Amino acid sequence: MKDSGRTAEISIGGENYSFPILSGTTGPDVIDVRKLYASTGFFTFDPGFTSTASCESSITYIDGEAGMLQYRGYPIEELAEHSHFLEVCFLLLYGDLPSASQLEDFMSRVTNHTMVHEQMRNFFNGFRRDAHPMAIITGVMGAMSAFYHDSIDINDPVQREIASIRMIAKVPTIVAMAYKYSVGQPFCYPRNDLDYTSNFLRMCFEVPAEAYPENKALSRAMDRIFILHADHEQNASTSTVRLAGSSGANPFACIAAGIACLWGPSHGGANQACLEMLLEIGTTDRISEFIKRAKDPDDPFRLMGFGHRVYKNFDPRAKVMKESADEVLSVVDSGRKPTLQIAKELERIALEDEYFVSRRLYPNVDFYSGVILDALGFPTAMFTPIFALSRTVGWISQWKEMIAEPMQKIGRPRQLFVGPVERRYLPLHQR
Ligand code: CMC
Repeated sequence: MKDSGRTAEISIGGENYSFPILSGTTGPDVIDVRKLYASTGFFTFDPGFTSTASCESSITYIDGEAGMLQYRGYPIEELAEHSHFLEVCFLLLYGDLPSASQLEDFMSRVTNHTMVHEQMRNFFNGFRRDAHPMAIITGVMGAMSAFYHDSIDINDPVQREIASIRMIAKVPTIVAMAYKYSVGQPFCYPRNDLDYTSNFLRMCFEVPAEAYPENKALSRAMDRIFILHADHEQNASTSTVRLAGSSGANPFACIAAGIACLWGPSHGGANQACLEMLLEIGTTDRISEFIKRAKDPDDPFRLMGFGHRVYKNFDPRAKVMKESADEVLSVVDSGRKPTLQIAKELERIALEDEYFVSRRLYPNVDFYSGVILDALGFPTAMFTPIFALSRTVGWISQWKEMIAEPMQKIGRPRQLFVGPVERRYLPLHQR
């Protein structure tokens, strides 16, 4: 960050205070209020962090007005078209696209860590078969710190690196094991002759009785979903990871905290809700009925997969998802072509409707992703775990960035206290 040379003036009770305005490389400037309390005795009040930058970061940039998302300066559309997930992982972690030898080395390091400690298999048996896979993944990711003692010293950059590689390599294995456990099938070990994404699909869908044939088109669609979800700057789960990490907690515990936060329906769960809505609509002639409900202020129903806190334009991820949905349904007959038709028609009608236009409500990443995941063969309970798998690299990159930051401090928000002021303890018989 650099000092812009400008200041923000605040006047409180006749006293004037001046605060520096700092600039990043792009995006809104910030008023540096770090000395506000010391100089004025006031806090700022911003629940939901709608106007607060909690850190500086050089990883991901979003311009919600323009509908723009960039990882390390590269537009998401270009990465989705030309790159692949492990290359994007390298970019997010280290800041630049890799050379051929760097990529080969990185892929080999990830590939050689895909197996989980054999004793971790016993962990899964402790869960009920009907446990939500997110519950299992949260527990197993946190438990990694009990298995990999040699990579939990956060002050050692080598250990931080090993922990990062381990998590990126093992999260597909863990997510696939959670899925296998829920459907009562044997776990499937990773195969290192396959690429990252094909290996994940195989670990989910192969059974001892029948091999899962590799399908390049489906692997590519899965890989794009991984790329599109890999990072999204300081969202709720990423901020959770940073806050947990700011206390010095080990990296496995921090990522487990991020997974727990992602589980909430306002964050990682909307893709499931969107597919369920499209299935409920059922036929294109019922779309107007649902649009009418979404516009009715007395009806809590909202068009799932529409609208975003940051994007006030097309979510650029939704455009790529739409193309991918077309590609996947041309390869797989999931019986969902009518569902995709409904989604497209719903999008067309909503984007011509004054209600959605005036509120700048556009399709978001979740609008088409459920149709694709369903076509790939995943039940809805697996949609959020797949989001967690993809986002692991983003969480790790943000965590590493924070730990390496010299001015890093424990995260400790303040509050506006509205509870009772001091009162005297009364013995039980006097209350
Ligand atoms: N359908 C109908 N009306 C909507 C919708 C919608 N999907 N989204 C917002 N509105 C209306 C809302 O009723 C309000 O209208 P009014 O001004 O008349 O009261 C106006 O638009 C502004 O809404 P808001 O709730 O203030 O906007 P927000 O920024 O707080 O909410 C949101 C963002 C994503 C929670 C919301 O758009 C929503 O609930 N969308 C549906 C759920 C969804 O698809 N969530 C996934 C988000 S993308 C995931 C990710 O990036 O991690």
